[in-house]
Amino acid sequence: MDVQRIKRKYRHTAWLYDGLIAPATDRLRREAVARLGLRTGDRVLDLGCGTGLSIPLLRQAVGDAGTVYGIEVSPDMLAIARRKATDGTWQNVRLFEADAETFELEELLDGMLCFYVHDITMSSTALPHAMKFLKPAGRLVAAGGKLARGWRGWLINPVTVAYALPFITTFDRSRPPFTIVLELIPECYVEERLLGSQYLAWGTRPR
Ligand SMILES: C[S@@+](CC[C@H](N)C(=O)[O-])C[C@H]1O[C@@H](n2cnc3c(N)ncnc32)[C@H](O)[C@@H]1O
Repeated sequence: MDVQRIKRKYRHTAWLYDGLIAPATDRLRREAVARLGLRTGDRVLDLGCGTGLSIPLLRQAVGDAGTVYGIEVSPDMLAIARRKATDGTWQNVRLFEADAETFELEELLDGMLCFYVHDITMSSTALPHAMKFLKPAGRLVAAGGKLARGWRGWLINPVTVAYALPFITTFDRSRPPFTIVLELIPECYVEERLLGSQYLAWGTRPR
């Protein structure tokens, strides 16, 4: 993964991310967080947390007794997340500027969210590395954009690609973006949304 390229990309697009992406992904985001099955007091990681759009939902799910971690490599995206944290309600949120392929955490997690983090889910090292911090039976949820097949692809793929291009650096049409999730989680469920242009994948780490 070319982290410098990712940082450069978000230096130019961070400011428009919340306005452009938030409304279009809100429904899937809520579903993804619900699929984490979090309970009060849980520890959860938002891997590639960006501007922190999922953090209010994750906070609500784990309550004041839980902890929400955010790992984000782009200082420009993270700066926006940190600004949201200044109103004092994000006390149990810990945000780190770090690379998904090398970050460290001091404690194990009950859940991990990978939401619209295409470069991370396509990396052969990021998810295997992150899985080390997920407890056995801890839950992984990944969701994001994908190319649709057949006639639906003709209809919607140009929109999906145009929408994704400002935000991704990995282009590999030969495998779906949840391939590595399937390798890591043997009992993984994958469903399509929005005419096959989005996916939601979830499962638990084997004991
Ligand atoms: C499309 S944004 C999604 C942000 C957030 N997950 C959301 O739901 O809005 C993808 C994010 O992944 C981050 N990212 C990409 N590669 C990364 C890496 N190797 N380590 C940490 N973050 C990374 C990008 O900087 C960007 O903020």
